Amino acid sequence: MSAAVGIALTGSGAATPARVVTNDELSLWLDTSDAWIRSRTGIAERRIATVEDSLESLSSQAAQQALERAGWRPDQVDLILLATSSPDDLFGSAPAVQAALGANNAVAFDLTAACSGFLFALITAAQYIRSGTCQRVLVVGADLLSRWVDWQDRRTCVLFGDGAGAVAMEVAPEGWDGLLTMVMRTDGRRRSCLAMARQATSQVLHDQLQAGLGGFRPISMDGQEVYKFAVQQVPLVLTQALKQAGITAEQLDWLLLHQANERILASVAQRLGIPAAKVLSNLENYGNTSAATIPLMLHEAVMAQRIRSGHLIASSGFGAGLSWGAALLRWGRPDAP
Ligand code: COA
Repeated sequence: MSAAVGIALTGSGAATPARVVTNDELSLWLDTSDAWIRSRTGIAERRIATVEDSLESLSSQAAQQALERAGWRPDQVDLILLATSSPDDLFGSAPAVQAALGANNAVAFDLTAACSGFLFALITAAQYIRSGTCQRVLVVGADLLSRWVDWQDRRTCVLFGDGAGAVAMEVAPEGWDGLLTMVMRTDGRRRSCLAMARQATSQVLHDQLQAGLGGFRPISMDGQEVYKFAVQQVPLVLTQALKQAGITAEQLDWLLLHQANERILASVAQRLGIPAAKVLSNLENYGNTSAATIPLMLHEAVMAQRIRSGHLIASSGFGAGLSWGAALLRWGRPDAP
């Protein structure tokens, strides 16, 4: 049997809307304060998409950067996976990204797993490479949850922001692997803790027939339950991923968690014994951008030369579903600085 094909993570990109909304600006119409939001979440401001912005455009910009940084031509891309819960088109926004890049040989489709979406898409993409089906894959995580929160509900709307991030993944040279281990979990029994559920409305077609009408309710969340879930389950999957790889927490260069809440980041790091200096965080500037948080943070850290080729990263995504997972990643490729 031939050895499994290795994965290399060779490019990153990110894009966010230009409009910044500070905590003080939120308190223009909400009964909230900068002090409350900062102390409970670590968030100071977020980017909000205006009517001119689109998920497809931000995703395409992020994907284009990842492609260029990986040094690929658009026609070399085999697969584009777009993790999102807020597409511009419910039939899928990935084909729009394909068209914008001119990646005409790629197959492109969406994957929905809320805030775990990017991690699940990364793990899914890796299977296509390992099986020999694809050579080069762009994995994009993007969400515009500002379009789906209730802006009068201070318990939820202050948490979220908009953005997109992308990673280029390709077949690795022999002896290299950028995805060491992975764990994925779902508990659908607890799906109502965090949901953007169907709005049950109907339309009368004639006196014997009422059809349903498409539509969704704004995001609903039991904040305390979600908090407890995250601080309990995320350390467990990360510990499992480390154990499977035979790696200790001390050997990690970075902890790259879904950016939901600064207190969750600190609690998980503490449980694993990872020092604060190794915990990547940009929550202060973006809030929770759902499927975009991990690639957005990754890209910033790569651009700042904090994450460098060969660095070992423990990553975990978690959120609605409930869904959660972890992966141990090695950034870059052997011939890169
Ligand atoms: N501004 C001011 N006060 C607020 C507020 C806001 N934005 N949101 C809630 N409050 C109030 C509540 O009404 C409550 O007031 P009361 O005691 O008079 O009823 C008080 O603050 C405490 O609310 P509580 O819900 O207990 O706060 P908390 O400490 O649990 O923090 C979250 C709330 C949402 C920040 C926290 O539960 C959390 O981060 N949960 C995880 C959410 C998450 O990450 N979701 C996405 C996962 S992908």
